[in-house]
Amino acid sequence: MMHSRIDAYEQAAADHMDPAAFAYVAGGAGAEVTLRRNAGAWVDVTLRSRVLRDMTGFSTACALPGLDLGFPCLIAPMAFQRLAHPEGEAAMALAAAAQGAGMVLSCQTSVAPEQVAIAPFWFQLYLQPDPAATRALAARALAADATALVVTLDAPLNGIRNREIAAGFALPDGVRPVMLDALPPVPSPEGDAIAGLLARAPTWADLAALCAESPVPVLAKGVLTPEDAALAIRAGCAGLIVSNHGGRVLDGLPATAHALPAIRAALPGVPVLVDGGIRSGDDMLRALALGADAVLVGRPAFYALALGGAAQVSACLRRLRDEFSVAMGLMGLRSVGEIGPDCLFTCPST
Ligand SMILES: Cc1cc2nc3c(=O)[nH]c(=O)nc-3n(C[C@H](O)[C@H](O)[C@H](O)COP(=O)(O)O)c2cc1C
Repeated sequence: MMHSRIDAYEQAAADHMDPAAFAYVAGGAGAEVTLRRNAGAWVDVTLRSRVLRDMTGFSTACALPGLDLGFPCLIAPMAFQRLAHPEGEAAMALAAAAQGAGMVLSCQTSVAPEQVAIAPFWFQLYLQPDPAATRALAARALAADATALVVTLDAPLNGIRNREIAAGFALPDGVRPVMLDALPPVPSPEGDAIAGLLARAPTWADLAALCAESPVPVLAKGVLTPEDAALAIRAGCAGLIVSNHGGRVLDGLPATAHALPAIRAALPGVPVLVDGGIRSGDDMLRALALGADAVLVGRPAFYALALGGAAQVSACLRRLRDEFSVAMGLMGLRSVGEIGPDCLFTCPST
């Protein structure tokens, strides 16, 4: 179902992009149940509006660790954006800055961070088997003015993405994870590959060590339970991103809209962001009503980049920002701080 113009980017990109690259971006793990759940769950959240309130001083501005945004939206970390456009992550960051959105640069960026940093940004990384490699990634991003680190916790293994495999996706010449290429090579595990990868997968102690060393706030991405949320905060994280990796890792996980409320309830006052299936400004408002401080948007931005570089990503973000502003105005909300549980309509029982 198409519920906003942002959805139209997916079909247009399917017609425009190399089919294997499109399958890499669009696909999810397994039978793509979690991928479908994400977008469907936001639509089911019913809003409770108020009328005739004093709306002077209306603003969609939002403050997060190390970022002041025009509206509570960031580009999700996504690998290899040069698959979409030769300017890749640099074009994405330019568009985000132009529209007052945030940018989370993936450690699998295909453009060097020094070429991306036109505005404060967050840097996403995976904890590497060698802590020195984790430190080197963080140090390079911080030197390029990253204002926070986002550590992705939910992908110690790649999910099995059938669409991408069937399409025979492989990185084309000239698209490389430039920051990872600059690190010393990690030897492949001997024997069973999955057991080998899991044996050197990171633990809470590794996250705590990074938090203790980091001069900037660290946020944990890929948290779906209050238990893990509490452990991440105990490890020293300054915030959380409720995410199932856009349905790309473990199929069968819940929609993030369903995981978010319990985490917010368990950790009042902690910055909590959410991603997965956000496709309109109304979805953004629903996410904030369920307890998020901001949202991240993934695939639609990638598609817009493929369709027209920075200009098209900028148009996509502008659309989201306008939709969010209109939704806030029609809800009778003057600032994002006013968005909360009383914006949710609970159907009377019959
Ligand atoms: C093409 C693609 C690449 C991604 N690469 C990364 C990555 O490198 N690191 C990461 O933490 N998440 C990665 N993600 C997950 C996103 O950060 C985000 O969680 C997800 O895409 C949000 O869902 P949405 O695409 O439905 O908006 C990727 C997602 C896509 C679509």
